[in-house]
Amino acid sequence: MKKILVAPSTDPCAIKDLTKYVQELEAAGADLIHCDIMDGKFVEKRTFDYMILAFLRKSTKLFLDVHLMVQNPVNVAKSYVRYGADRIIIHYESFPDKIQLVGALQTIKKLGVPVGVAINPKTPVKVLDTILKYVDLVLVMSVEPGKSGQQFIKDSLVKIAYLNKKRAEDELKFLIEVDGGINSINAPIVSVSGADIIVSGSAIFNAEDRAAVIREMHGNAL
Ligand code: DX5
Ligand code: ZN
Repeated sequence: MKKILVAPSTDPCAIKDLTKYVQELEAAGADLIHCDIMDGKFVEKRTFDYMILAFLRKSTKLFLDVHLMVQNPVNVAKSYVRYGADRIIIHYESFPDKIQLVGALQTIKKLGVPVGVAINPKTPVKVLDTILKYVDLVLVMSVEPGKSGQQFIKDSLVKIAYLNKKRAEDELKFLIEVDGGINSINAPIVSVSGADIIVSGSAIFNAEDRAAVIREMHGNAL
């Protein structure tokens, strides 16, 4: 039986409360922390940057996944790694072509961390066919990037299943992470489709009993 990993997102939490929130999530059974970074250019919103990540690094032992929703991820990746990122995820849509995307993935990999590629809901999953061998993780966005609290886009399940099949056929080892609109009700279907990690922002942040929601998301794995 596969255990799905639950990665609460930093996005719904105010910056001033982040270190406390992350500590609470660790005690509540979170497997890793999904740090959402937005630059106000790739998406409208602007979030914290690597200076705050350094505080998070000191507050938790949990693995820190860094999801860069920024225009020029290569320029900043080094600082995020230096200040505590355990994995860097960059967007397919941040690059004008695949050659530059692969170059960026290789540059970041040389920093000594695993790398992931994220695709937006409108990006067809097949664009990744030639990219999969370069990545440690694929992040399927199941909402438009930019804010938490949106509804899960069901077509994402087809993308997850496609990646899961392709991974087996091509004997690849990348992880499949899914981000956006996931709650304890739809977590099982995301898991059954082939996801290894589910990201959850508002469903965990807004819960009265956060540990219970994380437990439900774990228990829902088949
Ligand atoms: C969206 C972010 C997500 C988001 C998830 O731009 O990448 O990580 O915070 O939040 P929910 O689970 O509320 O959709
Ligand atoms: Zn995210």
